[in-house]
Amino acid sequence: MTEKEETRILAIESSCDETAAAVVVNGRDVRSNVISSQIDIHTLYGGVVPEIASRKHIERINQVVQQALDDAGMTLDEIDAVAVTYGPGLVGALLVGVAHAKAIAWAKNLPLIGVHHIEGHISANYISSGISSVEDGVRKPDLEPPFGCLVVSGGHTHLVRVKDYGEYEILGKTADDAAGEAFDKVARAIGLGYPGGPKIDKAAREGDARAIEFPRGKVRGSVYDFSFSGLKSAVLNYLNEKKMKGEEICVGNVAASFQKAVVDVLVEHSEHAIREFGFDRFAIAGGVASNSALREAMEEACRRHGVLFYRPSPVLCTDNAAMIGAAAYYEYRRGVRSDWSLNAVPNLKLGER
Ligand code: KG4
Ligand code: ZN
Repeated sequence: MTEKEETRILAIESSCDETAAAVVVNGRDVRSNVISSQIDIHTLYGGVVPEIASRKHIERINQVVQQALDDAGMTLDEIDAVAVTYGPGLVGALLVGVAHAKAIAWAKNLPLIGVHHIEGHISANYISSGISSVEDGVRKPDLEPPFGCLVVSGGHTHLVRVKDYGEYEILGKTADDAAGEAFDKVARAIGLGYPGGPKIDKAAREGDARAIEFPRGKVRGSVYDFSFSGLKSAVLNYLNEKKMKGEEICVGNVAASFQKAVVDVLVEHSEHAIREFGFDRFAIAGGVASNSALREAMEEACRRHGVLFYRPSPVLCTDNAAMIGAAAYYEYRRGVRSDWSLNAVPNLKLGER
């Protein structure tokens, strides 16, 4: 491949309930980042309804892609490759993005790059590391592998060793609920509604994290795997007990104590990985990485270990297409190309193609 000065990638993401498109240059320079959220519609049902998600993606994708090009001040003739999330996620939702990306790539004779959604989340750290990393007046170097990464989203909780661009070793994952799923379920139980993560984050600021002693989930025989279903049950039991006794619950205290139980476990496992693998850089990614308590606790833990800490800006933690454009650039440089048989793979594993 002859190396051009600029590789301009048009990226599309539609794996869940955001229709998103972005233009990213050389993996780190975001020229546009358009996100059309469907949250208002799914809120009515207390969670994402897959059928509705697919239909909304179809309605919106044309406009979102056009907006991404317009915001970047480019036409399709100036784009070098088209990238799209092809898994994991909701099959019908993924298909909309995959079909759209294929159509553009075919019509414009451009290379097509299928991207793993979690690889996208991890790669969000390549984008913002240069922007948000001035500490004590010293600019941190841009993030490059190898590093450790905690990926915490609505569907996944992975502790990952990023050995190189596109090379991942999963050290641990959840045995049951994902961290974001636990946030969403507990939020619903305490009447905060959907999506629960940001609402618990906010309610927790008014509460005392030491008020209620919730369990820190462990998985027998593994220091890296996670389990959140026991914690979720403990919160539900606590709420039931209070209700039976006719006692009021303090939403802030439940939110803060639950959040602390999740954050403690996430940080403890990450610290274990930092010690064992001697990472000198550690990153967090995924929707839950926008949680203020987690960001603070991980930053503090990394400082204690003398490790550089990276986290995307909150808008790049939750689903977006800029992160897909960042991941796609490094896949593109490695020579990865998808063909016209590219399909949605709802349970795609990290590191598989
Ligand atoms: O990465 P993401 O946008 O979608 C998936 O790939 O799953 O993550 C969405 C998840 C939801 O469960 C949401 O409740 C959670 O991230 N989340 C948060 C916060 N913001 C979003 N969880 C805790 N605190 C937050 N501030
Ligand atoms: Zn996601």
